[in-house]
Amino acid sequence: MKTLTLRRPDDWHLHLRDGDVLQAVIGDTSRHFARAIIMPNLVPPVVTTTDAKAYRERILAALPAGDRFEPLMTLYLTEHTDPDDVEEGKKSGLISAVKLYPAGATTNSHGGVRDFNKAMPVLERMAKIGLPLCVHGEVTTPEVDIFDREAVFIETVLDPLRQRLPELKVTMEHVTTADGIDYIKSSKGNLAGSITTHHLIINRNAILVGGIRPHYYCLPVAKRENHRLALRAAATSGDARFFLGTDSAPHVDPLKECACGCAGIYTSVNTMSCLAHVFEDDNALDKLEAFTSLNGPAWYGLKPNEETITLEKRDEPARFPDKRDSGAGPITVFDPMFPLHWQVVEK
Ligand code: DOR
Ligand code: ZN
Repeated sequence: MKTLTLRRPDDWHLHLRDGDVLQAVIGDTSRHFARAIIMPNLVPPVVTTTDAKAYRERILAALPAGDRFEPLMTLYLTEHTDPDDVEEGKKSGLISAVKLYPAGATTNSHGGVRDFNKAMPVLERMAKIGLPLCVHGEVTTPEVDIFDREAVFIETVLDPLRQRLPELKVTMEHVTTADGIDYIKSSKGNLAGSITTHHLIINRNAILVGGIRPHYYCLPVAKRENHRLALRAAATSGDARFFLGTDSAPHVDPLKECACGCAGIYTSVNTMSCLAHVFEDDNALDKLEAFTSLNGPAWYGLKPNEETITLEKRDEPARFPDKRDSGAGPITVFDPMFPLHWQVVEK
């Protein structure tokens, strides 16, 4: 039997939601991950440090007994965000990053930024105090095809912003295109990218071939195969600018299996098994630890975790639940469409 021991991983982009769903999903992350950057797109969003403090407490209260997990809180950037509140949040150690959702880009993003000039005072303060901006990198312009929204965002929003504020540290989250990978690789610092588990595994066929499959729909939407291959090459290269952000985004089934389903794929349950499979397929198991446990902390200025986890490759495929039940309804777990032989050894 093959085994692999890694420093305990972190998830640099995670949706935990609130209430019943938070209660149902938090254990799937805290079982394997030590820390996660927590997305602020609740209803209403986490806009101020006061909101973030209260949300952090709700997360800690929902943790299964005995689990040690550190939620790294973010603020949802609006056109009215107060730079002083952001600075205080960073100084107190509560806030790890600010999240930019272009208005209308995805789930609960209507309060996001329309006019970047209005957000400049906050962005300038963040550059000054070294607080990273996490970016949902898609334009929302109706004329732009949904499959081109990331590439157009880089050209028309991200690059101009970085030229205007070169000191601002930017995480391009859930990169889905070769254009995104190339842009990060060509940058001269202050830019890194997170990559999800599912974008390493599916291309757009998973959503559309043989019927419409809502559990493979997320935003940014999965692209063509050449883009998936570019993501795989970047993730498995060991390049310190790329790290795991699962973007695990639970929605209860009725909200996905309907005429206008929500974007989001729930991968927290089997992410480490999926990633071990992917990295082994690409002969890069020796780079898995960099992707899940080293590159992210280095980017966010944190130490890697001291604890470790061990994965075993067994002949029998691992069994994961198809769904996670929550008080609000069932949540479908990501199906990678191949058997998973790697499994985290539960302590
Ligand atoms: O697929 C997604 N789901 N993409 C996002 O950007 C948001 C997320 C969610 O909150 O459901
Ligand atoms: Zn997300």
